[in-house]
Amino acid sequence: MSRWKAPRTISVAALLVAASVPISANVTADVAHAAPPGTRAGGPVNPGFDTGDLTGWTVTEGTAFGPAAVTTTDTYWGGPFHHRGSHHLWGFAAAGDDATGTLTSSTFAAPSRISFLVGGGWDPERLYVALVRDSDGRTLLKQTGPEDEAYVRILWDTSAWLGQAVHLEVVDRKTGGWGHLNLDDVRTGDAAVRDDNGLTFRTLGQANQPTATRDFTADPLRPQFHYTPYQGWINDPNGVVQWRGRHHLFSQYHPDSPLWGPMHWAHAEGPDAVHWRELPVALAPPPRATPTDISGIFSGSAVDDGGTLTVAYTKFTDTAAHPGATPETVAVATSTDGVAFTPGTEVITQAPPGSSAGFRDPKVFRDPLDGRWKMVVGSGDGGRGKVQLYASDDLRSWTYSGVLTEGDGTTGAMWECPDLFPLDGKWVLLYSTNEGGRSLQRYAVGAYDGGRFTAERHGVLDGGGDVYAAQSYRDDAGRRLMTAWMSDWNVKEPTRVGGWAGAQSLHRELFLSPDGRLGQRPVAAADSLAQGRPVTVTGKTVKGGWRLGRGDAARVKAVLDLGGTTADTVTLRLKASAAEATVLRYEKSTGTLALDTTGAGYGTRATYTTHVRPGADGTLALDVFVDRSSVEVFTSDGAALTARVYPRYRESDAVEFTAEGGRLLLRSASLTPLGSAVLPD
Ligand code: FRU
Repeated sequence: MSRWKAPRTISVAALLVAASVPISANVTADVAHAAPPGTRAGGPVNPGFDTGDLTGWTVTEGTAFGPAAVTTTDTYWGGPFHHRGSHHLWGFAAAGDDATGTLTSSTFAAPSRISFLVGGGWDPERLYVALVRDSDGRTLLKQTGPEDEAYVRILWDTSAWLGQAVHLEVVDRKTGGWGHLNLDDVRTGDAAVRDDNGLTFRTLGQANQPTATRDFTADPLRPQFHYTPYQGWINDPNGVVQWRGRHHLFSQYHPDSPLWGPMHWAHAEGPDAVHWRELPVALAPPPRATPTDISGIFSGSAVDDGGTLTVAYTKFTDTAAHPGATPETVAVATSTDGVAFTPGTEVITQAPPGSSAGFRDPKVFRDPLDGRWKMVVGSGDGGRGKVQLYASDDLRSWTYSGVLTEGDGTTGAMWECPDLFPLDGKWVLLYSTNEGGRSLQRYAVGAYDGGRFTAERHGVLDGGGDVYAAQSYRDDAGRRLMTAWMSDWNVKEPTRVGGWAGAQSLHRELFLSPDGRLGQRPVAAADSLAQGRPVTVTGKTVKGGWRLGRGDAARVKAVLDLGGTTADTVTLRLKASAAEATVLRYEKSTGTLALDTTGAGYGTRATYTTHVRPGADGTLALDVFVDRSSVEVFTSDGAALTARVYPRYRESDAVEFTAEGGRLLLRSASLTPLGSAVLPD
């Protein structure tokens, strides 16, 4: 029996009008309010620095914001700034990261809304744009940067101070890396809410985050059916396991900021590998020995050891703070209630020889070949990634069995997060690499003899840009389930302006496809996310489209009839408006499926491709999960494309099929609104 609410019926007409209602709909145009004498209405002088200098702004402290900070520079090492107008204030340009200082705007009468573009480092205490009231010098609102040069728009509701004399202060008290802040295009009143093209800005920023409750609906970039940290940062999924019937999901976690830092293990559990209830932090680092000590609990795995939930993890010790310590060892901790864990005991205190690049991310499994516990650990040496293998009878005493397998030097110098498991008569090895600045989730399919793995075929697990550190487990039903960090070390994280970063992918079931590739499909329980009946069309040449609606989360399924489709390129536009879209494109002649995020909004912009094979009946089925800041595409032949996307505008919620140079025939297509995966604490 399902414990989820029965789907509610939604008609097509309802869906078409269910677009989110702008909270700003009742913003009144700002007129000259009862502004104190001498106070300027309409915002600060030179609100986008487009005079080319600091006209209207005053350096009130330090050297961080000299005139040289006003620049026309439009790109940095990571791409475009996306500033508006000719100039912007690049906090790095005048005096680098180490300079500190404050820049103060002219005084103006507070409008009902203010918005602005912010870039630069994340540090709410030392780096921020502030709204300050002139009469008492009180800081009314603050916003820090996204730890990226590229701009993100922040929207403030300032109606509480309407008409009062206020000014902006750009404050930089941070030295060292990312010790600067960027500002551009301050807008007030109605223009703060709407862009010049009439589209409405999404309401982002720390002032818009709920503080008292764990409300996952308020932030327009907050995934609804993907696990995310309420505040702080997550990366790799850890310890994925089904234990006493419940699915457990731990995550590399830094609670103090949306940036990587001393690692904890966040912990969630649920009934179905889809819905998650947050549990207390399972593992936490030791107290810091120095203010910069980044020692912590790195990645690892979990098994059921005769009823005891047992986790093996990397104990990472920062040798700068602990001279002479061994940086990476393996430790084991246990829980009998699935919530509280014993302190860890080190079980492997030294890396084996030939581990110069690292020794981390133990993944434990019961080896069906000899019934013993085995552990694979990520490593590398001499420019080649490798996997170390250990054996044990009790999870405490481990014997080194040698190198399981290693790369040829073309697939990264350090293989992180290895995972070895049998699947459909073969063995599969998952590992994560960094190759020439690109993070990749790789796999190999091959043979394993209890000591060595021999690869017969290599592949990339997901053709998209944002899948890394995948980890799998065999569930009670015998399925091989997998989830991955839906980001990677290169990805931009615009959600940092709201204090959080990182999301775990939907759980996926792995299988070997008939041609020997590693395939994946969404876990069956993802059906339980449905919040309404699918809106379906069949046997149609499709025109027009749907809207994602208020929840901004939906599943789009389509079966393309390739025989009846005369167009060579078929396009599914997602999260689309006149200004932006995430575009999925299938090219019949080459079999290429491309996920194009170059016009998707904030964040990383790229085009990701994979090759797909239509079924014998001449169809290609697409199963697309769209969440507030992600798109996961699954195809009928087991391919996947995953990307984080961060639309700028509220109106970017259209879903539409188009075809060029011919017609598109769909056997069927449907859009199902999806609900939240968050279970109450
Ligand atoms: C992979 C990784 C692991 C390490 C962890 C630290 O993303 O680098 O190798 O254990 O993240 O957070």
